[in-house]
Amino acid sequence: MTVERKPVAFGDLRGWIKALQAAGEFHEIEAQVDWNIELGTILRLAQGAGTGPALMFNNIKDYNRPDSRCRRVFGGGLASHRRVAMMFGLAPDTHPRELVKIGRTILNGSIPPKIVKDGPVKENVVTGKDVDLYEFPTPYWNRLDGGRYLLTYGGVVTKDPESGIMNVGIYRGMIAGRDQIPILMWRAQHIGHHVTAWQHGGSAEMPIAVAIGWEPSFGFCAGTPVTKGVCEYDVMGAIRGQPVELVKCETVDLYVPASAEIVIEGYLGLDPATYIMEGPFAEVTGYVGGERLPKPSIRVTCITHRNDPILRGTIEGALPGSYSENAICSSIMRAATAWNVLDRAGVPGITDVWCPPVHAGMNLLIQMKQTYRGQAKQAANAVWGSSAGHVRYKHVTVVDDDIDIHDYAAVDWAIAYRVNAGEDDIVIMPSTFGMGIDPSTRRRDRNAVLFGTGKWNRLLIDATMNLDYDPDPDYGGARFPPIVWPGKADVEAAQARWQELGLERHNRR
Ligand SMILES: Cc1cc2nc3c(=O)[nH]c(=O)nc-3n(C[C@H](O)[C@H](O)[C@H](O)COP(=O)(O)O)c2cc1C
Repeated sequence: MTVERKPVAFGDLRGWIKALQAAGEFHEIEAQVDWNIELGTILRLAQGAGTGPALMFNNIKDYNRPDSRCRRVFGGGLASHRRVAMMFGLAPDTHPRELVKIGRTILNGSIPPKIVKDGPVKENVVTGKDVDLYEFPTPYWNRLDGGRYLLTYGGVVTKDPESGIMNVGIYRGMIAGRDQIPILMWRAQHIGHHVTAWQHGGSAEMPIAVAIGWEPSFGFCAGTPVTKGVCEYDVMGAIRGQPVELVKCETVDLYVPASAEIVIEGYLGLDPATYIMEGPFAEVTGYVGGERLPKPSIRVTCITHRNDPILRGTIEGALPGSYSENAICSSIMRAATAWNVLDRAGVPGITDVWCPPVHAGMNLLIQMKQTYRGQAKQAANAVWGSSAGHVRYKHVTVVDDDIDIHDYAAVDWAIAYRVNAGEDDIVIMPSTFGMGIDPSTRRRDRNAVLFGTGKWNRLLIDATMNLDYDPDPDYGGARFPPIVWPGKADVEAAQARWQELGLERHNRR
């Protein structure tokens, strides 16, 4: 590891906000803002290309009375690499390349959670007929959304009925009534594995809890494809260097962070007869997605929350100039995850992995020092064959270790001159599992209810120098000619004359 980190336990969402405030990464809005379209629009415009602050809305129309159950919305906490670095316990200006490397170690780390008896999240307990989801200032984030999305950054907790191991994942959820939240999930996600297991056991419902608003590691890990059978709480512990303190839910046998802002407990209906209309929503792809269809729904049995709770949300969907939290976090942890997958699969020579943050890990860049023919294809097959590849890594580009994968121009140059489509440098892997909300796929293939998940034709761009070519004696036994960049001695000799030539004000590289 090149950079030392000092893990930080922020305590809760409020501790994280204090740290952001101190670092100048936080902005509070006191003017009244409408939950209906306006709040989401402001959050999307303010986030920029990973440059905007985290935002707290303190004065939300219809929810700003002293007796309103919930009056504040917080978003954008992890919408910049600087804040991801802070979460890891690193200097904010740590290069994303280092964040990926440290992310690899963190994702392999484990500090198991600690069960405690009580916590601030139990300050208010609402059950039965008193449950009313409309008491929360849930934004209507975007004009084309199918409803008000309460679950955009909540950690959805479920349990494998046999092993008892909990999973925490982020799955979007829309308010469909005072106590109903239909969600979007696919069979190939870990929550989907749990659904299948509960169904095999004969259950018509699955216990579920959604925790909203805690330390940054919570949303980060929930959105990460942590290895199956490993609980996300263990990885959160590794990020913060201390166990996560968990309390038991009131009405389901599941555990949630004791100092979470809000917890929604209930049962997810597994019988298609109980499904409720959900969608569409402004999605990760930057398009409206996840068609309006009947989806499994949470029947809410209890809500617990802190006094004056903060609703944590996020604006989904990255576009050039506006990167979502999901896209920023994906650029780090989807790259780190892919690198760990490559390692576990035994693919040698990987020197760097990166997902540019504009698209949340769809295009994966791998840099390698190749030593044998077919190494790039081995890498692509490994990531596509892993469960982490389910909703990511549609396009894999592999380059040699002289190409900087954080430099679009370098990657583009390699694609221009190291790719020969007639020499198997372009490989399509057809009809694999994939993301069910990608608009480049046929509408029929996006029907998760019909097919369990989406369908992707995947692409490898092998932009490495082709080791299937014969070594060329004219190039000293190399496959490709030398590049035109002058050698070290020639560069130094030219640079020594830079001032004399009047070029000192110009780029000397
Ligand atoms: C903001 C955000 C929203 C997400 N929404 C969904 C969603 O609606 N459905 C889904 O299946 N995955 C969604 N994901 C992706 C999953 O959270 C991610 O794939 C995670 O790895 C799932 O957890 P699991 O690996 O335990 O299955 C979202 C991720 C983020 C960060």
